[in-house]
Amino acid sequence: MDKILNTDWLTCPVTKEKLTSENGKLLSSKFEYTNTNGFWNFIPNKLEELNSPLWKVWNQLQDNGVSSYKNSPTNNLGVGPRKDFLQFAEFCNFNGLVLDVGVGPQKAPSHIEYNQKADVQFVGIDPLEGHQPRDFAFVQGLGEYLPFKNDLFNQVLFVTSLDHFIDPVIALQEAARVVMPDGDICVWLGEKDKNAPKPATSPDWYKALQIPEGAEDPFHYRRFSVVDFKTFLPKANLTITEEKIIEVDQWRKNCFYRLKK
Ligand SMILES: C[S@@+](CC[C@H](N)C(=O)[O-])C[C@H]1O[C@@H](n2cnc3c(N)ncnc32)[C@H](O)[C@@H]1O
Repeated sequence: MDKILNTDWLTCPVTKEKLTSENGKLLSSKFEYTNTNGFWNFIPNKLEELNSPLWKVWNQLQDNGVSSYKNSPTNNLGVGPRKDFLQFAEFCNFNGLVLDVGVGPQKAPSHIEYNQKADVQFVGIDPLEGHQPRDFAFVQGLGEYLPFKNDLFNQVLFVTSLDHFIDPVIALQEAARVVMPDGDICVWLGEKDKNAPKPATSPDWYKALQIPEGAEDPFHYRRFSVVDFKTFLPKANLTITEEKIIEVDQWRKNCFYRLKK
């Protein structure tokens, strides 16, 4: 798999200026980015916004997420040949340069590991360093602050990641910025009925999780329905061109969307 990250693709994730290279770092007028463990870290740590109470909540949610990824990876991540991930890959019909936003901590999530198309190159971004080295071009960063130039990618994916953003509209706006005018954004949302029965027992790692103040559950600031999701799209100038709903059981559905700008 091609793992090369072309530096011509990159911009400052905050100011969107072209970056210059100096002493092994990438610089914009206000920010600098390092490559210490074999990948670029584009989290703009000096940005005041990231110290706000909302981002503190997000950090706690992320810590809870990491606990679930370590303790129960097959339930919470694309690991191995999961049928639902292969269904999503089929829906996406990958082509060209594909950005996966919130790619996860795995060496490669299922849809990348089992991709059969030789002419597809995946680029993944996630705030978690995760397994290193990855099996695809990886950058550490945030979906709200994508370090890529406009109109670069043939496709942008959100694979069960959009509900982990404090503000999904900003993430969708960034995806719309970096996707080509004729490209598409593929989103997988899992929907669970509010009346779904709770498991009779929970493992100790789960019982130890705290719900951060203001958040809806240990992993999500807000859980949103597909009806809510559809209200986000005009704010990002995106429209749905294809929708596929797969029933998992009486309570759960996987909802796949193709969006265009
Ligand atoms: C449920 S996991 C899904 C991982 C992977 N897409 C998969 O399906 O296996 C959610 C992912 O979203 C990432 N995430 C959370 N907030 C994010 C943000 N602001 N920007 C980018 N990724 C984020 C998490 O770090 C985590 O890897």
